[in-house]
Amino acid sequence: MSSTISLSPHDEPFPASGAPTTAGPWWRNAVVYQVYPRSFADGNGDGIGDLTGIRARLPYLSKLGVDALWINPWYPSPMADGGYDVADYRDIEPDFGTLAEAEALIAEAHTLGIRIIIDLVPNHCSDVHPWFIEALAAAPGSVARERFHFLEGKGANGELPPNDWQSRFGGPAWTRTVNADGTPGQWYLHLYAPEQPDLNWDNPEIRTEFEGVLQFWFDRGVDGIRIDVADGLIKEPGLPDGEGFDPAKGVPYSDRDGVHDIYRAWRAIADSYDGDRVFVGEMWIPDPERFAMYLRPDELHTAFNFDFLSCPWDKATMRSSIDTTMRLNGPIGAPATWVLSNHDVTRHVTRYGKEDTSFSFADRRHGAPNDAVLGMRRARAAALLTMALPGSVYVYQGEELGLDEIEDLDDSLRQDPVWERSEHRDPGRDGCRIPLPWSTEPTSLGFSPADATAAPWLPQPARWAAVSAEVQETDPASMLALYRAVIKLRKAQPGLLTDDLDWIDCGDDCLSFTRGPQFGFVLNLGAEPAVLPAHETLLLTSSPLTEDGRLPADTAAWLRLTPASD
Ligand code: NOJ
Ligand code: CA
Repeated sequence: MSSTISLSPHDEPFPASGAPTTAGPWWRNAVVYQVYPRSFADGNGDGIGDLTGIRARLPYLSKLGVDALWINPWYPSPMADGGYDVADYRDIEPDFGTLAEAEALIAEAHTLGIRIIIDLVPNHCSDVHPWFIEALAAAPGSVARERFHFLEGKGANGELPPNDWQSRFGGPAWTRTVNADGTPGQWYLHLYAPEQPDLNWDNPEIRTEFEGVLQFWFDRGVDGIRIDVADGLIKEPGLPDGEGFDPAKGVPYSDRDGVHDIYRAWRAIADSYDGDRVFVGEMWIPDPERFAMYLRPDELHTAFNFDFLSCPWDKATMRSSIDTTMRLNGPIGAPATWVLSNHDVTRHVTRYGKEDTSFSFADRRHGAPNDAVLGMRRARAAALLTMALPGSVYVYQGEELGLDEIEDLDDSLRQDPVWERSEHRDPGRDGCRIPLPWSTEPTSLGFSPADATAAPWLPQPARWAAVSAEVQETDPASMLALYRAVIKLRKAQPGLLTDDLDWIDCGDDCLSFTRGPQFGFVLNLGAEPAVLPAHETLLLTSSPLTEDGRLPADTAAWLRLTPASD
């Protein structure tokens, strides 16, 4: 192992001015850890994760070496969609804590050199948001209804939805209201659950309100904002049917040109603050050229690279996705991002152990045969790959423990609205949202305090005791040890701070590149062991080499190519 590992930025005080710890602003190559607050750590023993729990685990996150946390929505919410149904954008969900605790969390994270990215949900709010309650009580055409998309239905008596749009969770994207006198009323649009009415972004009041929300959180010291459904805010004028809509123009409820004006205004707000505040957009859009338009210099700084996440474990597809990302991001100066898992997708340890290793919302391949050992082996290699690529990396909570997707959750316990809305065709996303195992303590695996009054909100498999953070802490061969090592090593490689990447030929089966003159990476995606290219030092491998020093199948290696003094 190389002796070149130097102190990480976490060993230094937090640069309050936002001074870069790497080449360029911090977000260009940060390791960002995603916290799903409900399932991360429960501080008060009610079975629900909370801010006390996150604060207590900050030392763990600091030791892991991450640069920032992205915290999923923490606002007051009835939790019809895990907090993506926001009732108040300027407060904290009581089950999670208080605004004062959020401020304390931000300050404590900063002390440890960890930045905070929060999650903003501008496409829709909750049906208990005061605006929606007011709109339901108001008359058609009123100012209150203009904040949403209320329309008369089609058909002789308005009994049919205004158009053919479908909710992304299943069923129609429209729900009919009931008038005060009990008669059927107008319909309102919800691209997700009925409890998530879409806001009308053609209404200037909505724009002003969200600009104020951005300022509210930037004023409280957050370093960045993840934008939920960033492609969805603007709808095609007139809300035309999807059927018959010109395919060359995409779909009428996503990626409309007008959305870019919103982000230009938001970027000006972010730029008006000190430090380097960052936006990260969530857009599942198929066209990579359209995707890159969100990353133009006066719009969003970064966006989740779902094209790469969706790739099968296949050399040509992964290489092509990486190439496309680099080709499109390069000219606009935007860093790439690399994401393998999050709270919406099948955990990649499980995905990579199935016959079809790609990800698609249309088919989660839930319960399809899964080789757990193979999946883990590939997940270890994938960690080394993403950490070696130019740009920032997202780590979804529990990924550093190698947690798998829980596919045998009892149907009666499922909470994700996708399960009901899809009429049980799609099991939903509960399986990647199981509370984390921190220890071998039998009642909640350390998720809650030992004297907790309630069980974790979703049950954990008992077998997770063996992969708890406590157990992995002392195992040098654990996934946790690998993540700590690779994050530390990444910070010590000057070549990894630039955007340069040069592919090298290392046989038909290997994905292989250099980053600057010193750093080399090889991933063997073939079935047979591969010969490593000439190198000075083997820095790290995801699994042991063969006895004769070759790189086994589904294994990645980090190499120092030249002597350290070069
Ligand atoms: C994307 C979020 O990641 C997901 O969890 C949520 O259900 C939808 N947007 C709707 O807000
Ligand atoms: Ca709690």
